[in-house]
Amino acid sequence: MSKNIVILAGDGIGPEIMNEAEKVLSTVNQQFGLDLMWTHELLGGAAIDAHGVPLPEQTLNAARQADAVLLGAVGGPKWDNIERSIRPERGLLKIRSELNLFANLRPAILYPQLADASSLKPEIVAGLDILIVRELTGGIYFGQPRGIRTLENGERQGYNTDVYSESEIRRIAHVAFQLAQQRNKKLLSVDKANVLEVTELWKQVVTDIAAEYPDVELSHMYVDNAAMQLVRAPKQFDVIVTGNLFGDILSDEAAMLTGSIGMLPSASLDANKKGMYEPCHGSAPDIAGKGVANPLATILSVAMMLRYTFNAEAAAKAIETAVGKVLDQGLRTPDIWSEGTTKVGTESMGNAVVNALINLGE
Ligand code: IPM
Ligand code: MG
Repeated sequence: MSKNIVILAGDGIGPEIMNEAEKVLSTVNQQFGLDLMWTHELLGGAAIDAHGVPLPEQTLNAARQADAVLLGAVGGPKWDNIERSIRPERGLLKIRSELNLFANLRPAILYPQLADASSLKPEIVAGLDILIVRELTGGIYFGQPRGIRTLENGERQGYNTDVYSESEIRRIAHVAFQLAQQRNKKLLSVDKANVLEVTELWKQVVTDIAAEYPDVELSHMYVDNAAMQLVRAPKQFDVIVTGNLFGDILSDEAAMLTGSIGMLPSASLDANKKGMYEPCHGSAPDIAGKGVANPLATILSVAMMLRYTFNAEAAAKAIETAVGKVLDQGLRTPDIWSEGTTKVGTESMGNAVVNALINLGE
């Protein structure tokens, strides 16, 4: 029986980069006989324009029924001033939460061909390969109570709640330990246990679970130190597990070490490896519609989808190899362009990956 994917191209550069990702998906679907089918639904600003809400019922139902979701990007200045509860980002948070996509995997890999792109010295980042595992459906992003209230003296006060229950910590810790087992067997848990009780519990629970993974070396770091170490000596890290807010911040920092956020995919998984796959970068409204956006992060998100949800490792590897080939050919979208390489647009980049895939198969 064929497997179903729901594609949510979203806003800004979303539709352009998704177009290229779809070409790649069609190519491997044929090459590897994957029997995948896909449909399109609306999310974010596009859904607000059409239906008045960022996550319409139809989109949520389709995503629930699908085996995987492929997402472009959401948001843009057009929707920045609408009421907070129906902003595009809320659609994204809601779909993560409704589908129980608690495990967010964000690799930060430095492509040797792009070593110049990092703002750090080459010797600090050469060979960098970190995986950030961010808890995605709990913590301060979802904790209640939250809001902006007016105090008796008339002053307004904003408040949020950072909360993690043991079971939430346990399930993300297991995912992180298991991923570490498949890599260099080093896991760093990031907390702020010197100040915040919620992360004191986090640290305790992760430490308890370590007993089940004797082959993985577990260490702990406060988030401020981790932020510093990431720019000081990032290659000390293998897998990093942390809560929703710290993970949001550290994953952007780690992405920037590679100098090319336009290259980084991500996976958000539930307990059964159903997943939503999306590039780490945003909707980049400033370059939307210009045909210059880098489609490679979305294309690499397709590879992650094939690997984690569809267990199609060979097809995933083929996409990653094809991306390496187009970089070897010197093709670069403007965000990763440097002297001596060839500047290409979104569509040419997508076509080049398709051609590289076809050549690999021959
Ligand atoms: C991310 C983004 C989102 C987040 C925003 C768009 C809600 O920054 O995926 O990292 O904070 O989770
Ligand atoms: Mg973020």
